[in-house]
Amino acid sequence: MALKGVYPEHLAKLRMGIQPQVFMKTVTVNPYLDRNFAPVQAEITADELKVIGELPPGLSGMFVRNGPNPQFPPIGQYHWFDGDGMLHGVHISNGKASYRNRYIQTRGFKLERDAGRAIWSGLLEPPQPNNPYGPYKNVANTALVWHAGRFLAVWEGGEPHAIELPSLNTIGSYNFEGKLISPFTAHPKVDATTGEMMFFGYSVAVPPYLQYGVVSAQGELLRTVPIELPVGVMMHDFAITENYTIFMDLPLTFRLQRMQRGEPAFMFEPDSPSRFGILPRHGDNSNIRWFEAPACYIFHTMNAYEDGDEVVLVACRMNATSVLGSSTQPQEHEGDNPGIQSDIPFLHRWRFNLKTGAVQEEQLDDKPGEFPRVNEQFLGQPTRYGYLGRSAAGSMPKFDGLIKYDLDAGSSQTHEFGRGRYGGEGVFAPSSHATAEDDGWLLTFVHDEVEGTSELVVVDVKDMTAEPVARILIPERVPYGFHGSWVEERLIPFSRQ
Ligand SMILES: [Fe+2]
Repeated sequence: MALKGVYPEHLAKLRMGIQPQVFMKTVTVNPYLDRNFAPVQAEITADELKVIGELPPGLSGMFVRNGPNPQFPPIGQYHWFDGDGMLHGVHISNGKASYRNRYIQTRGFKLERDAGRAIWSGLLEPPQPNNPYGPYKNVANTALVWHAGRFLAVWEGGEPHAIELPSLNTIGSYNFEGKLISPFTAHPKVDATTGEMMFFGYSVAVPPYLQYGVVSAQGELLRTVPIELPVGVMMHDFAITENYTIFMDLPLTFRLQRMQRGEPAFMFEPDSPSRFGILPRHGDNSNIRWFEAPACYIFHTMNAYEDGDEVVLVACRMNATSVLGSSTQPQEHEGDNPGIQSDIPFLHRWRFNLKTGAVQEEQLDDKPGEFPRVNEQFLGQPTRYGYLGRSAAGSMPKFDGLIKYDLDAGSSQTHEFGRGRYGGEGVFAPSSHATAEDDGWLLTFVHDEVEGTSELVVVDVKDMTAEPVARILIPERVPYGFHGSWVEERLIPFSRQ
């Protein structure tokens, strides 16, 4: 397990960039079991969905989104990240759309189903080292990746789970024929040009704190190498370029000594630098080169690429994170939400000069946003366009629109979901006839909090401010969740274990 029984209770909030004071309120009122964060009870299949607008002829495939959906009432307090992974999929084919939602049938899910109750407590409760079924449950609830004919549901504390398409049936946990020796990040990177998949796994309590692996285009895990870090840190994402892999050793550290002093084990250290490690894709720890920048925290990268002597990284940066009071930074702000300015993510760009060692860092927008994505056919290559969820006002991790950035021109356009409507990550689905990087659509589930309805919206990326070209009405509420993925129709028949 990545975190050796000390899995941080604030992990999901950290990922979403939410300030700790709000988090403390969530502990009291459990808003993650309420309204559209609440789980749905039924697994349904619905064909020939009603569509407002028109499904574009060039859009053919399956959109699937992962997220937490607890099967049973929790033991003790519930945290959003505790919920059993549920997939919500919309299959668009031959001008028609169908929907299905299915639990990911993990070992823990099945054991609890058979018991008729929760067996594991969640992140807000003490660890369970003596639980006879194991100290933790792999909930598989964070993200999805298609690679080498496998569709994997991923969760950073353990093994991926292979999912069959379009049924969304769980094939089983997958360990790359026994070759996976580390946890597996929820954000692996697939190079569409070479077909390789890069991943990492981290551990905070015992070294190696970081392990890095490469999977061949054929799906073979070629090797895993340890990467040295001074101390365990929370590491949610990374980035690739054509030739390099970029790790983010950010100063949200785990130190057991703090626990012995009665302090939180995780603390953000504002006086420590952010370290960006760049190594050749097939290199190892001896090849890594570290660059330092001011302390910050980053949950998600948008993309990275090479530009002459420079490696360029675009990501959502927060000045600091002070989750659960876990910052040593003095409170900067008065009132109910001290530190809030430190916890808001803004899009930034870094330039690391491999020749001179210089680092440049610039903020690209003053509008907060998260869940960055690009057209993944160009992941690791210079991309002109990138996409963010625009953070909605308020304390919950919701998005009220999608932003398209023209990173060359330094401009942006925003698609707003409308009053009382909130969505999630905008997943880029390229047109099957694409001739340009932005030939395609952004797909996300939107929930209308007034009407209580959910839909999949399809936004034309070339006309962001227009109404969605299609709104696919879902005959069931789709709770807010984490990351999604688009799988083109031509790939679906080939999904395998
Ligand atoms: Fe994530």
